Amino acid sequence: MGRYEYTPISFLSMLFFCFCPMVLSLLSQNQTETMTNLSRSFLFPVPWNDPNPCAWKGVTCDNTDSSVVGISLSGFSLSSPDFLPVACKIETLEHLDVSNNRLSSIPDGFTTECGKIKGLKLLNFSSNMLEGDLPTFNGFNGLETLDMSFNQLRGRIGSELDGLVSLKSLNLSFNNFMGSLPAKLGKSMVLEWLVLSNNHFDGKIPDELLSYENLTGIDLKTNELSQSIPSNIGMLSKLETLILSSNKLIGEIPASLLDITNLSSFAANQNNFTGPVPPGITKYLTSLDLSFNQLSGTIPEDLLSPSQLQVVDLSNNQLSGSLPTRVSPSLCRLRFGSNHLSGNIPSDGFAIVQNLTYLELDDNELNGSIPAGLGSCRNLALLNLAQNYLSGELPPQLGDLGNLHVLQLQLNKLNGTIPTNIGQLKKLITLNLSSNFLSGSIPSEITSLSSLTLLYLQSNKLNGSIPTHISSLTVLVELQLGQNQLSGVIPKMPPKLQVALNLSSNHFSGPIPRGFGSLAGLEILDLSNNIFSGQLPDDLTAMSDLTQLLLSNNQLSGEIPKFSQNVQVDYRGTNLRNTTAEHNQLPNTASKKGISVNLAILIAIVAASFLVGIAIQLVVSKKSHHHPEVVQSLVGSRIVPYPKIIESNLLTPSVLHRSSIDFSKAMEVVTDTLNVTLKTWFSTYYTAIMPSGSIYFIKKLNYSDKILPVESHEKFGKELEVLAKLNNSNVMTPLAYVLSTDTAYILYEFISNGSLFDVLHGSMLDWASRYSIAIGVAQGLSYLHGFVSSPMLLLDLSSKSIMLKSLKEPLVGDIEHYKLIDPSKSTWDFSPVAGSVGYLPPEYAYTMTVTMAGNVYSFGVILLELLTGEPPETDGIELVKWVLSYSRNPQHILDINVCRTSQEVRNQMLAVLKVALVCVSTSPKARPDMDSVLQMLLNVNEV
Ligand SMILES: *[C@@H]1O[C@H](CO)[C@@H](O)[C@H](O)[C@H]1NC(C)=O
Ligand SMILES: *[C@@H]1O[C@H](CO)[C@@H](O)[C@H](O)[C@H]1NC(C)=O
Ligand SMILES: *[C@@H]1O[C@H](CO)[C@@H](O)[C@H](O)[C@H]1NC(C)=O
Ligand SMILES: *[C@@H]1O[C@H](CO)[C@@H](O)[C@H](O)[C@H]1NC(C)=O
Ligand SMILES: *[C@@H]1O[C@H](CO)[C@@H](O)[C@H](O)[C@H]1NC(C)=O
Repeated sequence: MGRYEYTPISFLSMLFFCFCPMVLSLLSQNQTETMTNLSRSFLFPVPWNDPNPCAWKGVTCDNTDSSVVGISLSGFSLSSPDFLPVACKIETLEHLDVSNNRLSSIPDGFTTECGKIKGLKLLNFSSNMLEGDLPTFNGFNGLETLDMSFNQLRGRIGSELDGLVSLKSLNLSFNNFMGSLPAKLGKSMVLEWLVLSNNHFDGKIPDELLSYENLTGIDLKTNELSQSIPSNIGMLSKLETLILSSNKLIGEIPASLLDITNLSSFAANQNNFTGPVPPGITKYLTSLDLSFNQLSGTIPEDLLSPSQLQVVDLSNNQLSGSLPTRVSPSLCRLRFGSNHLSGNIPSDGFAIVQNLTYLELDDNELNGSIPAGLGSCRNLALLNLAQNYLSGELPPQLGDLGNLHVLQLQLNKLNGTIPTNIGQLKKLITLNLSSNFLSGSIPSEITSLSSLTLLYLQSNKLNGSIPTHISSLTVLVELQLGQNQLSGVIPKMPPKLQVALNLSSNHFSGPIPRGFGSLAGLEILDLSNNIFSGQLPDDLTAMSDLTQLLLSNNQLSGEIPKFSQNVQVDYRGTNLRNTTAEHNQLPNTASKKGISVNLAILIAIVAASFLVGIAIQLVVSKKSHHHPEVVQSLVGSRIVPYPKIIESNLLTPSVLHRSSIDFSKAMEVVTDTLNVTLKTWFSTYYTAIMPSGSIYFIKKLNYSDKILPVESHEKFGKELEVLAKLNNSNVMTPLAYVLSTDTAYILYEFISNGSLFDVLHGSMLDWASRYSIAIGVAQGLSYLHGFVSSPMLLLDLSSKSIMLKSLKEPLVGDIEHYKLIDPSKSTWDFSPVAGSVGYLPPEYAYTMTVTMAGNVYSFGVILLELLTGEPPETDGIELVKWVLSYSRNPQHILDINVCRTSQEVRNQMLAVLKVALVCVSTSPKARPDMDSVLQMLLNVNEV
């Protein structure tokens, strides 16, 4: 009877069934036997032990438990398809779900046997490793839902689906199908949902599709479809969703879409559509995305007025003319950036749009002034009017936008002063007023913007001095004040500046003040083109992360103190003398222009990155910021007090660890910065040798002062206890923790190989190791994402937060931040979106929420690192952008030392590259989930 194999495991499970009388089962003898056979046909045991098959996990019976109607084997790690024909013996079966397994083929016995089951309504084969052509479905007269998405199926589709006369929903997305779109999908034409996205279908959208009058959803995105949309698409009168994004479609947007009164969502972005935006297109829509096309003409006057309309994106087209004046009160997001729109921003149009949250009109030709009415859009979180011809003064009403996170008005012709009530924008993270004609002094109120991370005021006509209390911008990481007319005393600077501090081309005079030395995280300090005089203060050399010090064209004199060799000092046009090594000098050929271009790119990236007020904390503790040299010298003689332990707890059950961990030794270790092994965005790792000789990592949480009020200590402990119980060989779990007066420390096993970043970018890793690391990280992430009720996300997934147990076994680290920096436990309004530059998905800039899809993007960047051997960001250029710029010749990005070892390795790398590129898709929806990513990576093995 069995095609199944009698492995020792299935033999054991058979014994089990022999000893258990099936007294509880109401199933017919026939079905009980079939189910028992089914349970034996798996190569690996499934949790099916109860005498009554109706009680088995994934098995559904009818109301009276007398017949089996559903079998779900989703995520059972099945790789042999031999059980499938057995399942077809259940003639009462209605639903069969075998998604999320490792099946690579469907046996013929399945299509012939299951095709006979009259009542079978649903088949789900998604997220497996199915290869080859689509099987032919003979019979299956009652099948309503067929899901074959996320497999490796290929070839053209001919008559395979013709027999599915009851089919209502077909999903073939994320495969490698090619040729023309299937047009005969069962003859009764009851199809309602058709999802064929992410394949290689080409040619025209067939006219036959229009005869499926019951279609409510069509998703054809990311294929190679060409020619124009059938002009009578309006015949599909029940259509609610139509997604045609990322194809090669041309021609005009057909006006017949207006006839579809049910159409609520229409996306045709990233094609080559031309002609106008049809008037009335939004009459019934809630969401319209036609961005990145070649649409021209003017925007229809009625485009924004329909009352149900919520989202409109027409950015990156050739649209001209003026903005519509009537705007729907429910509009939430409007993007018109990068067109040729001109005229004024209508003064009343937006005033009544209470729900407007994102308004982007940047890179157009708008003129006139910024209407005061915008101040009544109280929900605005993002206002981007940059790169237009806007003039006049900034309306003080902008101060009413209490929810504003990002304000970008740069590259306009704004004049007048910066209004003092800008200080009311308490949630502002990015403020960019650069390259305008703003005059007057910088209002001191600006220093009360306590969430501000990026402040750009360069290239204006600002005068007076820098506000005295600018250092109260405690999370500011970049301050650009260059090319103004500022003068006077330079006050104490914001303590966490990191990216750049630019005071160049102003009127500052007198000696450079002491105090910059405490900016230990600052990378670029630009004081050039001022009238600074005298000697350099000696504390400049204390800026431990400095890479560029620009002093040119000042009246400075004396000797340049000895900087570390990473620092480039530009002292052209001064009387400074360099007595130290040659490599500190900026070569005369390195032009200032080169620097500012890099900086501009960096600014753009960082602007997207630092959306919530989490700045990088520095390695040294807060107190030591001001006197780093003192702390260093005292550590040896143990005068620095150890952090005071408020609470300490062991989490691990391991007796070995419990006897080895010594909390007071741990606190001694963290007072000495020499013990720092690694810094990640949110954490600093120390290496501790316990008195027993065992070595541990101690991780200091750099944000804990913000989220750890005393009353939450208990919660903190509880969360960590949960994490300590996680059991996956690719996830780093905590062993113990210490809460101290100022922060929290978590202890982990010591990982001698350190982080993936250090290993990958510091030595040669062969492809076998890199591939194994990719699989391991994917396994860890898919485990963490797999907690159905509350998936565990990573706030900062990067190659620095992956530890290497061995050169083939990675551990996903820094998993606790998502649990600990929970908005409900912190004072932030949004879940904190931050993380390392290069790894952040583009949508975080707008959504401000950490998501699984966001983690998938970061994982894609890690894959690209493994493939290219390049760091996530070089000279301000993100690895993803660099890789995408080579999309036509992908072989050129592969790490040459690795890919030339063999043709087989090269092929595998190219296959992994495909996976990486899906992961870094711009649209979060286009990214597969981690389970699927893992499957795809495992598939690569068989290339
Ligand atoms: C039991 O199964 C056999 C073959 O699978 C079928 O011929 C027979 O009619 C079934 N009996 C009942 C009572 O369903
Ligand atoms: C569309 O659906 C309706 C209601 O379910 C049904 O009566 C009709 O026959 C369907 N149309 C076609 C062409 O099958
Ligand atoms: C769009 O069309 C133009 C010319 O009509 C062509 O140069 C361009 O490559 C096309 N773009 C895409 C993405 O097909
Ligand atoms: C604004 O948004 C809220 C919350 O989503 C919604 O309940 C309300 O109906 C919206 N207002 C309008 C005018 O659409
Ligand atoms: C700002 O510019 C406008 C012209 O665009 C001019 O009329 C006005 O006087 C200027 N205001 C200031 C304060 O310079």
